Amino acid sequence: MKKQVRSNIFILITLFLGSNHLGVEAQPCKPSGWLRGREPPPKKCNPENDSECCIEGRPCTTYKCSTPVSHRTKAKLTLNSFEKGGDGGGPSECDKNYHSDNTPLVALSTGWLNRRHRCFENITIYANRRSVMAMVVDECDSAKGCDPAHDYQPPCPNNVVDASEAVQKALGVPRHDWGELDIYWSDERVPLQEPLALLGFFTSMVCQKMIVCVGYISISFSCLGFTLTYYG
Ligand SMILES: *[C@@H]1O[C@H](CO)[C@@H](O)[C@H](O)[C@H]1NC(C)=O
Ligand SMILES: *[C@@H]1O[C@H](CO)[C@@H](O)[C@H](O)[C@H]1NC(C)=O
Repeated sequence: MKKQVRSNIFILITLFLGSNHLGVEAQPCKPSGWLRGREPPPKKCNPENDSECCIEGRPCTTYKCSTPVSHRTKAKLTLNSFEKGGDGGGPSECDKNYHSDNTPLVALSTGWLNRRHRCFENITIYANRRSVMAMVVDECDSAKGCDPAHDYQPPCPNNVVDASEAVQKALGVPRHDWGELDIYWSDERVPLQEPLALLGFFTSMVCQKMIVCVGYISISFSCLGFTLTYYG
């Protein structure tokens, strides 16, 4: 009986956190400005692997924010090299080091890196009916670009997960699709396999959370017309 109560509480906490999470970072994201493209000097900007180079005079939109992060955050998966001499420009933003492209690593757009709060976090990327965990080590700068620090590449769009070769392989992305693929990612470190996590995820999608406090704690969820109430 006691066990039952405890697991009920756990479910409710899962639901509570799950549904709470949706509201986080939910501000609209507008461009922060723009910058004028500058022609890369000779031997600058490595256009390998579909990397773009700035064009003289072409304006580029800049962003300091990205869309809110959820259980299914829509993004573009691009290819990045984290090795020295690769197309990633300088060392990784989070630890100022280079890394092997054989490890699952990603750079996130500026807004998603969230002032480095996501550095070293392991995110889960879903594509091709597969999922892979990858560590966040770098920024795909959406706010700046077309300068030596960014190898004369334009600012990143604000919806990019820029991933190492290891990530592309783990997801089974065909080589010709390396560079731009529609994917989802989430902060959850394990794919949602546990029934409880799945239930929490589902509920947070369809339920409206209401908290009523009368003396003791009472939490109530309203789902598709049904209401579930917990009295603590
Ligand atoms: C481009 O991709 C290939 C194959 O993944 C890799 O060997 C090479 O280092 C990459 N080049 C750059 C400049 O990142
Ligand atoms: C992410 O995963 C790596 C490799 O599995 C691990 O070393 C690291 O501690 C993890 N980071 C966090 C924040 O759990």
